[in-house]
Amino acid sequence: MRCQHCGEVAVISMPQHRLKLCEKHFPLWVERRVARTIESFQMFSSDDRLLVAVSGGKDSLALWEILLRLGYQADGLYIHLGIEHEGYSHVSQSYAEAFAATHPDATLHLVDVRARYGRSIPELAREGGRRACSRCGMIKRYIMNRTAREGDYDAIVTGHNLDDEAAQLLQNNLYWLRGYLQRQAPVLPQTCQGLVRKAKPLCLVAERESAAYTFVRGIEYIQQECPHSAGATSIFHKKILNDMERRSPGTKLQYYQGFVRARQDGFIIGDEDTPPLEECERCGQPTTANALCAFCRMLETEET
Ligand code: AMP
Ligand code: FES
Ligand code: ZN
Ligand code: ZN
Repeated sequence: MRCQHCGEVAVISMPQHRLKLCEKHFPLWVERRVARTIESFQMFSSDDRLLVAVSGGKDSLALWEILLRLGYQADGLYIHLGIEHEGYSHVSQSYAEAFAATHPDATLHLVDVRARYGRSIPELAREGGRRACSRCGMIKRYIMNRTAREGDYDAIVTGHNLDDEAAQLLQNNLYWLRGYLQRQAPVLPQTCQGLVRKAKPLCLVAERESAAYTFVRGIEYIQQECPHSAGATSIFHKKILNDMERRSPGTKLQYYQGFVRARQDGFIIGDEDTPPLEECERCGQPTTANALCAFCRMLETEET
């Protein structure tokens, strides 16, 4: 197998792009693809200060590396969720810190949920009689937005890749979740004061490609999945999409890109009566609720 640019030994074959590339040309291809994605969706500009949400996993660390190589001002945010099973949070934090230590121009912000808010994610979930994952998404979004506001960042970027987005789309499609379909986008602009823009620059990069990228760029990351994710529907949906991709390369990309175009052309209309955002009375973060935001409500009910 030979690189189609230079004829050296290829390290990856990407049938969906009809492309085989070597260890020199593959990472450059990924970086160019991300640069084009950022431009074509007008995610952010070179003057913007970015806050990269890093989990210690391959996608978010690959993204941080790519953004720094492309010349963006990109700092990191690691949220310590307090998941103790096999030291999951501790180990993932150490990968984020190791990455930051080799990139002295970038700052890594650390937020420890238990130290800051009194209880870890599994504890908060247990108190509310819920599964950790159902609390986790809301808490992470809250902390990302709050940290970005406090640090005066222009955009929050996350490492969601094509596989994540296609699986999310399948879930939203299956149940015709119109509000979620309306909000599923490569970039969500700042819709009101206090809600920081969010972007997913890896949305056209497949999971396999981001894994290969970290390998050729020598980035170490946590391989273990979150212990609470076992049995998640998204894993099942990813498997279905991977089976389809094997039979028909390019399926995932077509599915997701087709959706994004349809959404841009106005085919997806969300819930019409979405209430306007107000400031939470306690923390000042934007919320659709009347007085307290979902995060403050959770802390309050689970305190009592
Ligand atoms: P997940 O929701 O675990 O699939 O992660 C999606 C994205 O959210 C990752 O690519 C990261 O950008 C971000 N993320 C997940 N976990 C954390 C964390 N503990 N701290 C900061 N960002 C995170
Ligand atoms: Fe949030 Fe697993 S419960 S990452
Ligand atoms: Zn080559
Ligand atoms: Zn609040």
